[in-house]
Amino acid sequence: MTCVAIVGSQWGDEGKGKLVDFLTERADIVARYQGGNNAGHTVKFQDKKFILHLIPSGILRNKVSVIGNGAVIDPAALFTEIEELKNLNIPVEKYLKISNTAHLVLPYHRVFDQLREKVRGDDKVGTTGRGIGPTYTDKITRSGIRMIDMSDPKYFKQRLEAILPEKNCLMKYYFQEDLQFSAQEICEEYLGYYQKLKSYLCDSSLLINDAIDQGRNVLFEGAQGTFLDVDHGTYPFVTSSNTLSGGICSGCGVGPMKITKVIGIAKAYTTRVGSGPFPTELLNDTGEFLRKEGAEFGATTGRPRRCGWFDAVLVRQAVRLNGITSLAITKLDVLDKFESIKIATAYQSPDGKIHSELPPLHNEELTPIYEEHEGWQCPTQNITEYDKLPPALISYLKRISELVHAPISLISVGARREETIVPNPNLIWV
Ligand code: IMP
Repeated sequence: MTCVAIVGSQWGDEGKGKLVDFLTERADIVARYQGGNNAGHTVKFQDKKFILHLIPSGILRNKVSVIGNGAVIDPAALFTEIEELKNLNIPVEKYLKISNTAHLVLPYHRVFDQLREKVRGDDKVGTTGRGIGPTYTDKITRSGIRMIDMSDPKYFKQRLEAILPEKNCLMKYYFQEDLQFSAQEICEEYLGYYQKLKSYLCDSSLLINDAIDQGRNVLFEGAQGTFLDVDHGTYPFVTSSNTLSGGICSGCGVGPMKITKVIGIAKAYTTRVGSGPFPTELLNDTGEFLRKEGAEFGATTGRPRRCGWFDAVLVRQAVRLNGITSLAITKLDVLDKFESIKIATAYQSPDGKIHSELPPLHNEELTPIYEEHEGWQCPTQNITEYDKLPPALISYLKRISELVHAPISLISVGARREETIVPNPNLIWV
């Protein structure tokens, strides 16, 4: 039995969707443990492209796909995703399982997310506007509503009636908006979704733990990335959940000793969507070239991603924070045309101080200290064996591995399943 956690080692969009899909071949269950439809996981096979937001990528391989209790669910968005998959003849009814205690994204969460960003002005987080932050806020302040709460319509309405006066007061007096939310209207809309979704509900902790006890392989699919984690990321420019491997325990109801491997996914360079610090960002032609070659546009919002060189400081920190046992390096083919490639190994602040970790207070401009590597300057997309990779690419990977203190178990040179090299399968499955 192997329980493999897949986590993003940077700011999300590292290619987790593709690798989860690739690894799902050997998994029995794939489970999401945090986030919501702010995520966008792109999977390409048979020359078709799929973008999944809430449903684990395992669904494309007909594997049991679980949305754990730590995720937040916008039922309208989920229902649309289910319908899209059904139209592709994917038997969603058979494989999708949803935790009955996952929290609901309600209409006011989306509205507050967008209004708060407007109020923040230049200091905005750059959220996806999907209501994720306000939903987690309500969960923590005990004003949230869970999937199971809709099974008793009277209770659901009572909860809304108790919660809405505060929301409506904020709307009227703080945001000075005319819109007021009605318990009756929300009940009618959401109970309609509940009827369509109730057959997917289950105790997902029980389901996953039973599978583990029976010796099945489980993949935990992280969304976003290490530096968007609400505790360990570049706060306040983060998402509102624990994206780290530690989030699996609370977000799926699984004990820490059950997780056997943690695979950190890192792009061969770095990207970020939304605001916040990004020491290796390239605001020049090189950054533009990375964005074009890598098609770096958000899968959920279509926003252009900020691009920069590989940051070994960040990824080394991600190895520590997640207990990463091996790394998957993706999108190496995007670097095929470069004569030379840089890796940041530390930062320097304006007073000359050298930092080997990203400081927690983001109040000064950090200049990356780079080392330069020879590029390979040849196409790599069709290479399927490690030994056939150009020597300069292999030495780039070896240097990354050395700098971040983790071995490399997977190499991705293209978006398709076949464009994946596995130099060491023992680092993934036991
Ligand atoms: P939220 O998760 O919508 O609240 O957005 C908070 C921050 O996380 C913003 O900077 C978003 O751009 C970023 N973010 C959220 N989901 C993703 C993702 O799937 N990939 C990359 N960035 C994300």
